[in-house]
Amino acid sequence: MPFFNPVMKFNRDFSIAIAKIFNVRRFLDGLSACGALSIRMKKEIKDIEVNANEISDETIKFLQQNKENNNADIIIRNRDLNLLLNEDANFDFIDIDPFGSPVQFLSNALLNARHNTIIGITATDLGTLCGIFGDACIRRYWTFSSKTDFDKEFGLRNLIGYVAREAAKYEVGVEILFSYYFHHYFKVYFRVKRSRSRADEMLKNLNFLLYCDKCAGRKYSDIADASITGNFCGCGKLKILGPLWNGKFADVSVCDLLGKEVKEKTEQKILTLVKGEQEIPIPYYDLHKFCKINRLQVKGTEDIIKIAGENGLKTARTHFDGTGLRFNGDVKELVKILK
Ligand SMILES: C[S@@+](CC[C@H](N)C(=O)[O-])C[C@H]1O[C@@H](n2cnc3c(N)ncnc32)[C@H](O)[C@@H]1O
Repeated sequence: MPFFNPVMKFNRDFSIAIAKIFNVRRFLDGLSACGALSIRMKKEIKDIEVNANEISDETIKFLQQNKENNNADIIIRNRDLNLLLNEDANFDFIDIDPFGSPVQFLSNALLNARHNTIIGITATDLGTLCGIFGDACIRRYWTFSSKTDFDKEFGLRNLIGYVAREAAKYEVGVEILFSYYFHHYFKVYFRVKRSRSRADEMLKNLNFLLYCDKCAGRKYSDIADASITGNFCGCGKLKILGPLWNGKFADVSVCDLLGKEVKEKTEQKILTLVKGEQEIPIPYYDLHKFCKINRLQVKGTEDIIKIAGENGLKTARTHFDGTGLRFNGDVKELVKILK
């Protein structure tokens, strides 16, 4: 059956907003299915060439029908996306929305996309990315994972870290524009920078994360320093996870511009939270789990934010989890605040 998922409306809204903000003139909907994104893109943006690519002959019939029904002047392509990317990657924006993981298309996109092309990738393999299926996480992403109390952030930082490693091998850097988690998927929009120095610069944002199973403490660390900075919490239960992206996962100025384009209340909320998260790279704490692990009574989040502020520590709520809180102090400081 051809694929159409109404839950992906926000995904399409953000892609259209990105195309508007960056004045995209030539767009490739790499895995277009029935053309929901392509048709909207063509209808909502003037002077844009929209290429809708789909491999399935059966789905192409629906795509053709939808094109006619909506009187949308889009170009339909019927290629394997990996082949197409090697034949014609001269686009301003390439959107890749697969079933599951985008890894099988990422390499050709990064190899062929030109300088400054925007690439948007969707990933729905959350169990693998977030560390629930450790073996699959190694096979697909070459990331050491574990169950954590910040699994959604682990997944997004794992995905961006993988993008960075794939890009670096082609001497490409990526500039992260905007990424988020919603419902059952991650989305990452980044701009390709064909520059060796940008690739080197980008790799400085990759690191391992030391995570304590006993107290839920966490700390980014270079692998070479792990034995020095390891056991930072004193519990002796550390795991080395990663490599993960420890840089910003969204550009706040892009969040501001997106805020002028998207209409839904939930989209605005995601943008506000994502924007507020970028100054604290250490993954959020799930306060309920953290209090349980450390045998502390749960306090209201607003109270914790207030006490942290009085102690000169920064906090931020997170779009990943309603009970999560980002905190720029270490685990011992958080325990002190929660006591
Ligand atoms: C998740 S759906 C895309 C949904 C669509 N972007 C939307 O917004 O509704 C993935 C689509 O990719 C197509 N596909 C899978 N492998 C492909 C390939 N190698 N090249 C092109 N299309 C492919 C599938 O047939 C399917 O229709």
